[in-house]
Amino acid sequence: MTDFKILGFAGSLRKGSYSRMVLNAAQRLAPEGTELEVFDLEGIPMFNQDRESEPNARVSGLKEKIARADAVLIVTPEYNYSVPGVLKNAIDVASRPYGTNVFEGKPLAIISNSPGQLGGSRANYHLHQVFIYLGSYMMNKPEMIIGNVDKKFDDDGNLTDEHTRQKLVELLIALRAWAEKVKS
Ligand SMILES: Cc1cc2nc3c(=O)[nH]c(=O)nc-3n(C[C@H](O)[C@H](O)[C@H](O)COP(=O)(O)O)c2cc1C
Repeated sequence: MTDFKILGFAGSLRKGSYSRMVLNAAQRLAPEGTELEVFDLEGIPMFNQDRESEPNARVSGLKEKIARADAVLIVTPEYNYSVPGVLKNAIDVASRPYGTNVFEGKPLAIISNSPGQLGGSRANYHLHQVFIYLGSYMMNKPEMIIGNVDKKFDDDGNLTDEHTRQKLVELLIALRAWAEKVKS
């Protein structure tokens, strides 16, 4: 029986995205009782404050799913030493209009990754800054920053690196414990 629901999204839209592969692996490795639903950010319109009170179905869907989830998991690459625009835009959209910020009080974990050695760490820390403002309960430990991510999957997109698999499971277990702690 599922009694802990995580909503996950990746900060990349591309088909062969490693971020998406990490998310898919987390979905498969979710411990018993935990379900990870993946939301694709494709189709989320660019934020325009003039129209923030008339969200389209994609935006309402995203906000509703975040609101209902017990926790949120974001897997992101790093673009130009920071958060990809597609992800920052989705966060902006889901935080508005004022008073309807669905990230407020939400337990949340961040995983960054990169084919480079630093694993998108700068994007990871920039995201922390964003969620401080939004009032989320960010899980600071365990930190997950995956460097050389392109070496960790086989050609079919399966996560083959045992260390990363273990760390993913640890993070999912810790996120549940964190969410329960925050709730109580
Ligand atoms: C616009 C752009 C900027 C990038 N900037 C960085 C960067 O600052 N640091 C980094 O480690 N990789 C950078 N990269 C490489 C990405 O880490 C790499 O393309 C990665 O595979 C993208 O994530 P995805 O596989 O989830 O789509 C950049 C890629 C793009 C397209």
